[in-house]
Amino acid sequence: KKVAIGVDIGGTNTAIGVVDAEGHVMVKDNISTPSHGDIDQYISDLAAAIKELIKSVKLLNENLEVVGIGIGAPNGNYYSGTIEYAPNLSFKGVVRLVELLRAHFPEMEALALTNDANAAAIGEMIYGGAKDMKNFVMFTLGTGVGSGIVVNGDLVYGNDGFAGECGHTTLIPGGRLCGCTALGHLEAYCSAPGMKRTAFELMVQYNATDSILADKSFNELDSKMIYDAAEKGDKIALEVFEKTGAWLGQGLADTVHHLSPEAVFLFGGPTAAGDYIFKPTKKHMEKHLLPIFKDKIKILPSELKPGDAAIVGASALAWKELEK
Ligand code: BGC
Ligand code: NA
Repeated sequence: KKVAIGVDIGGTNTAIGVVDAEGHVMVKDNISTPSHGDIDQYISDLAAAIKELIKSVKLLNENLEVVGIGIGAPNGNYYSGTIEYAPNLSFKGVVRLVELLRAHFPEMEALALTNDANAAAIGEMIYGGAKDMKNFVMFTLGTGVGSGIVVNGDLVYGNDGFAGECGHTTLIPGGRLCGCTALGHLEAYCSAPGMKRTAFELMVQYNATDSILADKSFNELDSKMIYDAAEKGDKIALEVFEKTGAWLGQGLADTVHHLSPEAVFLFGGPTAAGDYIFKPTKKHMEKHLLPIFKDKIKILPSELKPGDAAIVGASALAWKELEK
């Protein structure tokens, strides 16, 4: 039986899993993504963790054959196998990740990297809600906001491999500072840190010392806490979702105008809040859409299992490589 490795490189954590061809995670592990740029150490830790996982699945079943490694990373470039100038990672400049990892896995049939949101889109296409769709967009909400664009059944990479950076759409000219150093990007509003920032701004604006969120520090607060507070009727939390949805809806409308997708999928921690985020997003997207698009575009939650989704998405890239 053939299996693949999925690697999801995040800002603080790198998740690794062995995934079967049906998209089930068999075993998984985590290593930390370095908080400063020691890339060589990181690559050897990553290679060691992958080798450990391969060993442990072989104990389960010695007939398993690991045939590929798929990696998703912010600012990942599929064409060159590099991660370049990632605002939300400690790596500086251009990291030749595939080349460096290849040295540890010379025999591996497939070894490829793509943008993390692209990996999520591929996962959705192979295992999730986009199985029967030819045109859709994946938006991932996390430390950053990423997107993966599928047109006519293919992921869009563009001229040099970076297509689909919709999180860096300018939403508010001169607005909040984005991690990439530009002002007013969607990511600065609709990412998990963006939502926290909205909560703090609103608490100051209303002097809301009675909010459930008022005694949290910026580092403590997360999107789950905002969701829990909204469930208890906390006005600040409810307004955070309203505003985030309004911003996201505006951004999604631009994307719809560019691409005419069948659906937009939302993926990531903040989407666990369900209607709190989906309803205002849909309402505001509709408000910004041309009549030719109105009431036609679905906004759907990712159908990949939370927790495993990013690993499964990344492994899907490996299978896609093997098909070539
Ligand atoms: C990066 C994207 C990435 C997204 C989610 C953005 O800041 O530019 O490449 O997909 O964050 O991690
Ligand atoms: Na992308």
